[in-house]
Amino acid sequence: MLEKSAAFAGKGLTFKLGTILRFAPQTPFDLIFSNAALQWVDGHEVLFERLAAGLAEGGQLAVQMPLNHDHASHVVADAVAGEEPFATALGGYVRRVPVESPEWYAEKLDALGFGEMNVRMQVYPQHLPGPEDVVEWVKGTYLTDYQSRMPAELFPRYLERYRERLLAVLPDRRPYFYPYKRLLLWGRR
Ligand SMILES: C[S@@+](CC[C@H](N)C(=O)[O-])C[C@H]1O[C@@H](n2cnc3c(N)ncnc32)[C@H](O)[C@@H]1O
Repeated sequence: MLEKSAAFAGKGLTFKLGTILRFAPQTPFDLIFSNAALQWVDGHEVLFERLAAGLAEGGQLAVQMPLNHDHASHVVADAVAGEEPFATALGGYVRRVPVESPEWYAEKLDALGFGEMNVRMQVYPQHLPGPEDVVEWVKGTYLTDYQSRMPAELFPRYLERYRERLLAVLPDRRPYFYPYKRLLLWGRR
């Protein structure tokens, strides 16, 4: 991504590799924008305080995060992680999504001095060929956490169990309508 973005650098625009965990700009920004990344960072109480502190007077914060972890596609993933032999391989780890409710972020932005805000949950309608395609979708997102924490040779078994459990609870609609919730928040300080 950085290699590709290099072509667009210049005129005050640079691209740098860094972890959000240590994001603390020396010079405040007019805009802090994050798409689909903060759900991987724990401790939103402190994180949002840091983001707000990195904004100049009148600066804007714009964030999008998935909010779909109460859907069967995610609930089943956690349930399977708690079953053997995966529980032992994961050392008892079950993912806890750090994303809070929309009203939590509204309160937080207000407390941090954002005079203007727009915080909402939006359902993105996804028409997938069938329920089995939900497995492919989640494999590229939520399941990467479990995949990275278990031996490579065990992950296909996890995936097989996940597919079996998930397809037992999802309605067999074709095409399959997968409602995907996202949290969109914007504020100006
Ligand atoms: C779903 S992708 C979104 C990528 C990009 N923002 C976009 O909109 O296409 C999530 C990204 O978050 C990154 N990520 C996860 N934890 C991170 C952290 N602590 N610091 C920086 N990036 C992180 C991952 O490497 C991944 O590229």
